Amino acid sequence: MRPAAGEGGPPGTILRPVWLSPTPGQIVENMSENSKLVVVVGSVRAERFGPVVTSWFVDQASKHGGFDVEVLDLADFDIPLALPAASPKHAGDSYPRPAGLAALTALLEAADAFVLVTPEYNHSYPASLKAAIDWHFTQWVAKPVAFVSYGGAAGGRHAVLHLENVLTELHAVTIRDGLAFPNYFVNWDAGQPTDPAAAGYATTLLDQLAWWAAALRKARAENPYPG
Ligand SMILES: Cc1cc2nc3c(=O)[nH]c(=O)nc-3n(C[C@H](O)[C@H](O)[C@H](O)COP(=O)(O)O)c2cc1C
Repeated sequence: MRPAAGEGGPPGTILRPVWLSPTPGQIVENMSENSKLVVVVGSVRAERFGPVVTSWFVDQASKHGGFDVEVLDLADFDIPLALPAASPKHAGDSYPRPAGLAALTALLEAADAFVLVTPEYNHSYPASLKAAIDWHFTQWVAKPVAFVSYGGAAGGRHAVLHLENVLTELHAVTIRDGLAFPNYFVNWDAGQPTDPAAAGYATTLLDQLAWWAAALRKARAENPYPG
């Protein structure tokens, strides 16, 4: 096993999966029996590895059968760092977001569950992901969030620890079992993790996420969350 890569690491194999993002203004509603799972690609940098991990995980989630799966690639959006004066928590539906974020917000709103696919940058998660989180509040409340991380020796676990803390503040429910891929640059081959146990770990994560997604979807529908 090689030591952890330095910053940036070797460029990932670019196997950009084909997926569709909603067009701006599109209304995304979940009319399905299945819970809607939104898989978020957290990194946006050039030659990122995130789409490779995401593509594999989306395949696992589609095979699982418990979800209608959609991908939200943060690289498709220009997410400003400067927020409005009001907080999204207090402004609610009247929070003034740029028009370019409408499709992103609609997808978060429609989600019954999230998987955040995140690398580790300086022992945390990318600023792109933090910006996407901070522009929203109600879209996260009383929804389950699981994590798929990757990076050097720690496999992105520092990033996930920070995300768990942040999402608790947003009244989201974080899922215990995550997927962490250390030294992804030697432990992935042709778009797949070389660990044969990885698909089983993904199933465990998805089973837990599906349970929480169904339970919280029912609870939200029956009784507004008091947060
Ligand atoms: C600014 C920066 C900081 C990084 N810091 C860490 C780190 O603290 N721990 C780690 O394991 N990997 C670190 N890395 C390596 C990344 O995890 C690795 O390059 C990964 O591919 C980044 O994901 P991406 O390609 O999807 O952007 C860092 C990379 C960058 C660009």
